[in-house]
Amino acid sequence: MKVILTQNYEESARKGAEIILSALADKPDMLLGLATGETPLGVYRLLAEACRGGRADFSRARTVNLDEYVGCREEDSYSRFMSDNLFDRINLPRENITFADHLADPAAEVARLRGFFAGHTVDLQLLGVGPNGHIGFNEPDETLESLVHVTDLAPATIDANARWFIDGAVPTQAVTMGMGDILRARSILLLVKGESKREALRGLLESDAVTTRNPVTFLHLHPDVTLIAEKSLT
Ligand code: GLP
Repeated sequence: MKVILTQNYEESARKGAEIILSALADKPDMLLGLATGETPLGVYRLLAEACRGGRADFSRARTVNLDEYVGCREEDSYSRFMSDNLFDRINLPRENITFADHLADPAAEVARLRGFFAGHTVDLQLLGVGPNGHIGFNEPDETLESLVHVTDLAPATIDANARWFIDGAVPTQAVTMGMGDILRARSILLLVKGESKREALRGLLESDAVTTRNPVTFLHLHPDVTLIAEKSLT
């Protein structure tokens, strides 16, 4: 794992955006795996700026998102989050976006997305991490699932994500890429932001052990991971 420690979040976002922009320049039709949450927001702002300034062209790129809530309101969906923060600000064709539909039957969405991943390889997967070590919505448990599945959100995740919902009522289920789907990406870019991630990050940096109780540690199994975190978190 390549570890990049930064002075502050701005620097993390800049380095993250540089890695994505360089991958896009090398492969204009890349399949980019995307994440939601606060962590990637600075990266998305810089990608949008690069596109506006003519330094990035997403016209042939394709994207797939890690996860989506089941049965949430449109305005609370991750798909809306991505439109607001990235898709509406870059020249990515709508038809090149793959997303679980928050209103569709979750079992049907799982089948559709499993089909997608059977036929596509993510070139670069951007990841954040939850305070409990989850990646996507692969929550700490006795076992982890390999493929796209419906998951019950951990109480800690519901608490951590309540800040995004006006009434605090976080959906309790999500459709998420599985650990195998994530680990099959050609390369992975993990961004860590915020004090609440210190414990999960420690598990990743202080040992090469892999544990289902801290799913982010599974990234030790991947040959091409770049971790970007603020030095103060280590
Ligand atoms: C959600 C997403 C994760 C993300 C995590 C961290 O739970 N499903 O993919 O990494 O939030 O969120 P934040 O970046 O807001 O701390």
